[in-house]
Amino acid sequence: MFKPLLRALRYLGKYWHLALATFICLILATVATLFIPKLGQLAIDQGILQRNWPRVLRLSLGVVAFALVGALFQFARGALAARTAQGVAYDLRNTLYAKIQKLSFSYHDRAHTGQLLTRATSDVEAVQRFVGMGAIMFLSALFMIVGSLGVLFSFSWRLALIVVAMLPLTFAIFGIFARKATPLFRKAQRRLAKLNTILQENLAGVRVVKAFVREHYESERYEAANWELYDINIQVNRILSLGFPTIFGTLNLATLAIYWLGGFQVIGGTMTVGELVAFANYLMMAFFPVLMLGMLVAQLSFAAASAARIFEILDAQSEIVEKPDAIELPRIKGRVAFENVTFRYYESAEPVLKNVSFVAEPGQTVALLGATGSGKSTIINLIPRFYDVSEGRVTIDGYDVRDVTLKSLRSQIGIVLQETTLFEGTIRENIAFGRPDAPMEEIIQAAKAAEAHDFIMSFPDGYETHVGERGVTLSGGQKQRIAIARALLLNPRILILDDATSSVDLATEYRIQKALERLMKGRTSFVIAQRVATVLNADLILVLEKGEIVARGTHEELLETSETYAEIYYSQLEPELLLEKAQGGEEVAR
Ligand SMILES: Nc1ncnc2c1ncn2[C@@H]1O[C@H](COP(=O)(O)OP(=O)(O)OP(=O)(O)O)[C@@H](O)[C@H]1O
Ligand SMILES: [Mg+2]
Repeated sequence: MFKPLLRALRYLGKYWHLALATFICLILATVATLFIPKLGQLAIDQGILQRNWPRVLRLSLGVVAFALVGALFQFARGALAARTAQGVAYDLRNTLYAKIQKLSFSYHDRAHTGQLLTRATSDVEAVQRFVGMGAIMFLSALFMIVGSLGVLFSFSWRLALIVVAMLPLTFAIFGIFARKATPLFRKAQRRLAKLNTILQENLAGVRVVKAFVREHYESERYEAANWELYDINIQVNRILSLGFPTIFGTLNLATLAIYWLGGFQVIGGTMTVGELVAFANYLMMAFFPVLMLGMLVAQLSFAAASAARIFEILDAQSEIVEKPDAIELPRIKGRVAFENVTFRYYESAEPVLKNVSFVAEPGQTVALLGATGSGKSTIINLIPRFYDVSEGRVTIDGYDVRDVTLKSLRSQIGIVLQETTLFEGTIRENIAFGRPDAPMEEIIQAAKAAEAHDFIMSFPDGYETHVGERGVTLSGGQKQRIAIARALLLNPRILILDDATSSVDLATEYRIQKALERLMKGRTSFVIAQRVATVLNADLILVLEKGEIVARGTHEELLETSETYAEIYYSQLEPELLLEKAQGGEEVAR
């Protein structure tokens, strides 16, 4: 159970000099603090009881000096420990983020964004608290206990034995409370995660919630989760507020016993008043670290659980891994071949693609046609190796995509995914996403080709227009055109457009089509589109049905050979064509 914690402690390695400095400050602070009761004792015995005023003054000044030195080192310790802890958290967050970025599509298909978010934030914080603060506090507590016990024994071993007997008792009491509180803590953590998930879902889906008039229901759901959290936190507090008085009660009993037994010794002359007072002070000093240890132990399982959750992500195997001897894919010509490809999203699932074979020669345009869910997006997801085939292989210029490095593969493929994602930033930055250093002329050129230039220039800020967190300020069609420009800017040898023109009107699609035709020259293109213009000019049309290619060929060939195609054409494409003709787009039909 504590393995993850030990592993988390390794993150301290990089900050060993900071950790060491923290520890040194801690020792110095402790030593300085340990001197204070001793000075107090001398002030009583040699000063007050002897009515030696100058001595009292000198010793009091000594107390102040040691207290100041102690405080100084305590401050340094705190600052250093925070720096160490934040360093560890910083590294953990970065490692986690890099890993999440690296994990394959199939991992993200299964993962919940809310969970990943919680792990990257509150779990990291719990581990940070433990590694940075906890581990150092643990040492500090041990040191304090050992130090003050040592001094106690040097005063009177008999009285010290009382303390030694009291310590485990306190620890046990604390243990009882901790055992009660820990499951509640965990519950509280889970409820917080649930509350966060609801909040996050609702923020992301606020438009849907409003559109379906579900505000009331969602508010109630949130309120219920919120109440649960409130409730558990109250319970936690009840235990804590019961626990601390109990423990302090024990401490008071111990002090009482010391004064009582110590009083006898003082009266009997075997101990001075100063020693007794100092003893009581050292008792406190031994006691507080015990409380600290107790709290740390309670925190331990908490932090261990968080660490385990973090390492679960860090250890997750990406299904898509480069071979150790993966080669750089040389500049590609663009021959894409599927050889008897069968594909399942999960091991056990039904195949989504069955025995798919086709070849796209360099420079060809391949159109994929088929009902929704027939596997069009799935096919194109296999080309940049977002998923690995279950059987068969996908090759580019004869290279199996599993034999080359992901970077050399993906950087030569321009892709417009079915769902457009824009990032927080300007339009220019969004277009230049794959090539942040692209010169402005090229960005404009790409935008022109994607029919985006005109609408971009219609904004007062042009290319510097900020698009919101998820590009809310742009329409669906505008976003798609920016995504097309983004893909074109890469000047890729292989271009994939998954339903990239579904949100634009016919006239715009026609213009994009014309521009793309120029751009597609010399590139192998895969186009998924519902519209006739794209399909008519394709060199190869693949008709998919339930994951199988049921017909293939050019438009003319298919009209004669494939009933399915003819059906799709007449029912779905022809009316559009007519509509377009009626609107004066004769050119399209050519
Ligand atoms: N990430 C995924 N995990 C599991 N199954 C998936 C996943 N993505 C798609 N599927 C399934 O695979 C099948 C093919 O989906 P695909 O997205 O390839 O269809 P499509 O032809 O692109 O449809 P559309 O025209 O609606 O975009 C569908 O039955 C779908 O439910
Ligand atoms: Mg699709």
